[in-house]
Parts: sequence; C-alpha cells; structure tokens
Amino acid sequence: MNLIQNPYNRNRQSLAGDWHYIIDPYETGFYDLFGNENPFGYFRNLTPDDHWASEYNFKQSPTMKVPGDWNTQEPTLLWYEGTLWYFRELPDAEVDGGRTFLRFCAANYHSVVWVNAIEVMRHTGGFTPFETEIGSYLKPTGNFVVAKINDERLKDGVPTRNTDWWNYGGITRDVLLIKTPQSFIRDYFCQLDPENDSQIKGFVELDNGANKDVNLSIPGLGIEHLISTDSHGFGQFAIKAEPDRWSPENVALYEVRFSIDGDSIEDMIGFRIIETSGEDILLNGEPVFLRGISIHEEIIGQASRVNSEAEARRLMEEVKALGCNYARLAHYPHNDHMCRIADEMGVLLWCEIPVYWAINWQSEEVLHNARNQLSEMIVRDRNRASIILWSVANETPASEARTEFLKSLITTAKSLDPTRLTTAAMFMRPDKVEENGKVIRTYTLDDPLADHLDVLGCNQYLGWYYTKVSDIALSRWHSDKNKPLIMSEFGAGAPKGKRGGPHDRWTEDYQVTVYEAQFAMMDDIPFLRGLSPWILKDFRTPKRPLAGVQDYFNRKGIISDQGERKLAWDTVHAYYKKRSSD
Ligand code: GCU
Repeated sequence: MNLIQNPYNRNRQSLAGDWHYIIDPYETGFYDLFGNENPFGYFRNLTPDDHWASEYNFKQSPTMKVPGDWNTQEPTLLWYEGTLWYFRELPDAEVDGGRTFLRFCAANYHSVVWVNAIEVMRHTGGFTPFETEIGSYLKPTGNFVVAKINDERLKDGVPTRNTDWWNYGGITRDVLLIKTPQSFIRDYFCQLDPENDSQIKGFVELDNGANKDVNLSIPGLGIEHLISTDSHGFGQFAIKAEPDRWSPENVALYEVRFSIDGDSIEDMIGFRIIETSGEDILLNGEPVFLRGISIHEEIIGQASRVNSEAEARRLMEEVKALGCNYARLAHYPHNDHMCRIADEMGVLLWCEIPVYWAINWQSEEVLHNARNQLSEMIVRDRNRASIILWSVANETPASEARTEFLKSLITTAKSLDPTRLTTAAMFMRPDKVEENGKVIRTYTLDDPLADHLDVLGCNQYLGWYYTKVSDIALSRWHSDKNKPLIMSEFGAGAPKGKRGGPHDRWTEDYQVTVYEAQFAMMDDIPFLRGLSPWILKDFRTPKRPLAGVQDYFNRKGIISDQGERKLAWDTVHAYYKKRSSD
C-alpha cells in the first residue's frame, strides 16, 4: 500500500517539539538479559513505581527537538552511534468517524514505533517516510508514542558501513498525525504523457473506495474529468491538454485537485517532458545543459541535518545564486521540502538512494531494502516537475552481481515512474596513449551499468586525487554509448581563508586552479550535457580528520560550513554565466 501522497496538504498535526529521550547503547530497553525481546521494554512507558524491573522514567528524562539529529543537539552524542528512545504524549482521540495515521517523514536508520505500548510499525532506511494507521490503538485520553531509533552502520545496510558523510541519527524529519475520512484519496500521479505530450496521463488510488468515481480538476486548463476506479479503488486517466510547459525559465505550476464525496486533495504540479535523444537531454523537446552543484542535506551555518522548510529554501537560494539550473541531491533522498522548493524556483534535480560504494550485492534482503527506499522516494516525489533523474548508485565497484542488483532497481524505477530518466554516478576507465611525444590521458565510460541507464554519471577527481592538475589539459574522454554524460562529481578541498599560490594544495587558490582546469577540459567533452561539482558546502564527515585543515569536515565545498563563499564560488559562477546560453 503506497504512502499517503502529499500529506502536507491534508488535515495534519505536526508532533514537532520536545520529545523525552533515553540513550540506550546496550538496548536494555528492548532485550532481556539473554537477548530476547523484553515484554517489559521501555515501550511500556512504565516507571519504577509500576514495576521493580522498570529502571527508567520517560517523563523525568531529558528532552530534545524533533525533528533533528541527536548528534548536534547534545554534545555527548556527537559521535554516538546506537539506540536512542523517544517518547511524547499524543493528543486525545477525536471521535469524528475519521481515520488517523502516524507518519515519520524520516528517522535514521532502523526504527520501531509503539502507540500506547502496542508495536505499530518498523522501518529500515534513514531518508524516506514511513507511516501506519493508528486510530484503533488510540484511547479517549492518555495516549503516547514511543520510538526506538538505531543508527548503527551495518555491513548489510543501505548505505553500508563506510560513507563519506556524518551518520546523523534520530528522528531527523517531522512526525505527523494525518486525519482522513473513512474513504480517501491515498495516492495519485499526474504528468504529461512521455509517449504523447498532447495529453496528461496518470492514476488515482483510493483507500477504502472501491468503484468510486473521482473528479480531477485542473482549473488552469479548464479540465473537469471523471475518473472511474476499479474494485481496488484504482483508476487511470489520459486527458487531452496543452499546459504551459514547466522549465527553470518558466516555472508554470497548475493547481490540480482530486476529489470524491467527503475527501479532496490538491497539489501544484508542473507539466514537462524530459527525455534523451542520442547524447542530448531534451527538456520539452529542447536540448538542455545542466549547470549544477552537488548538495548534502546539511544546514548552512551549523553542520546538522536540514529539518525545516526554511533551511531547505536557504540551500536552494544558494543554488540559484550560483547560476545553476540543476542540483544533485546527494547521496540519499533529501527532505521533500527540497523538491517542492525546486519546483517553485526552477531547479532541475537528480535524486538518489544511498546505494553507495561497496553494498552487499549478493543479499536478497539488501536488494529488498534498496528497492524499498527507492520506491518510497519515488512514490513520495513523483509529482514534482523539478525531478528529472532517479539515480540508483554512487561509485559502486563493477561486478556481475552489482550490475544485476542495479538493473533490478532500474526496472523498479521505470515501473513506478516511466516519465523520468535513470542514471548513476560511475567511475571512468583511465588509460594513456602517446601522441607526438606527449602522454595523453584517456578516460573511457565503459562501465557495464552504462548500457542500462538513460544518462551516464561520472565522478572524477583529476587534479585532486590520482593525477596532477597539469595532466588535466592532456585528457581525452571517450564513450561509445551514444548517451548524455553528467560529470556528477569533481573538485578539490580548501578550508575557507587558507590562501597561497595557485599550486599550493589545500588552499582556496589551488581549488580555483583545479576548477579552471576542469572547466577547460569539460568544454572539450562532446557528449557532456551537465555537471554537478563536489560540493556546495563543506560538510561533516568522520573520514576527514586532518587537524587544522579538515577537523572532521570534507572541505571540497565552494562555500564554508558557515556559508562563506570561497574563491572557487566565483570561478563556478563565472563559468555558468558563460554556459548559460547553451
Ligand atoms: C566520492 C564520493 C563522495 C565523497 C567524495 C570525496 O566521489 O561520491 O561522497 O565525498 O568522493 O572524496 O570528497
């Protein structure tokens, strides 16, 4: 059963605020002495007055903000990886004949949730929503919710144990109580038909609404259309229409409303066609060059998980200020404010799941986990015009098992959403040839995965890792895939304020030297159709300890973690100004 579509436009109550918490590295609150799940666990919300075994009391425990990672709310938790228990009281049950759903917009990484001491759901994955119906568990008063969140990195996790980003744990996004009528519109999809762009195509899915008719209204197009649904409450439609095409230059959004007796849901949807033609990416039939930047989901000014619409907007404003028409939301599904803001501001998006580096390709369970996160991301965001690319992987080592694993994810993406392109960030194959006494470094895109993608992504750090910046000018890129390439990562590191000569590594000056050489090389790649330098902002990571330079931050940002622009920001801005006529 799909997630409830567009909960923010529904009758909802945010449970954001102070939640009591208990740190529990040994999971004392969940297992008994012998490792069995304990029926007297913390989810019972007891106190020592209730039972001798209850050596805890949520209401006397400290509180922290939800949404928000725990690492940056409590100094003793900055490096903590393990289990944290959360508790808060729930509002009294309304006796209105409606239904009540509990939705966690994200919690990293593994969650178990109880309502009034009854387990209601479990979820794996740190960046996608999960929800369940809880009305039958609610009492007239005295309701409470308990959540056990564990963020230990796992060999069989998605992502796996090794990532170049901070493992922010906890309830990192909003928690919502969603109220619906008995019969309601659970999901819908509405977009121009990629096979026939003179019609709008899609579906609507009712919950508890078999064989009901649904009215689709798009006032801006003069559309009032009745959709018949089947015995499962599912109905499809295809309607002739000529909407203004959405694009970064023309953010045409239409009010779209689905309604049945007793329920309606409205959205703002942009209509556009994204496709490829040989080495071109076509937006509404016209070739587009993607002037982008990569982004981690961290707040500018304080390195912690973005958890508000305002913080998401601040990131997108920086993207626009840089002169971008595109952004890569790395390396996991960002909060859904980002793609709604991108719809409004006209920023095309690459969205991805954290199938990152050396995932366990042999495990059916890992594939199910990855597929589930991909599905949750696509179902949540497929009505957002700004998203043009679903990426299934980042820098994964080529093998037959890995390619089969990713082909399966590509099939899932296409079945859930035939209107978008698929991609992945891959490595290139380096080689050398001698020409006229010079050594030319060649880079070939021949990862077997490339044959199964619409658009090729390639990460490379020429001039930073593995080659000298002077070698960049003697580079040549090859691809026989007849597909567009997005250079999905490149860059260099420099703490803000560290200055020196143009070849002094770790200085802002050297970061500029690398960008200038990279851009000159990009101009000579005939099948390049976009780029997303790594990365907008310095970000926290346990993998970058270099004291006085990194201090557990990756310094490849073109702005500092405090939001100060580095010299390279001007280099990128100038290059995008030059390419904006592409
Ligand atoms: C890789 C990886 C990034 C990482 C970057 C770096 O390409 O995809 O997540 O941060 O390299 O080395 O800075």
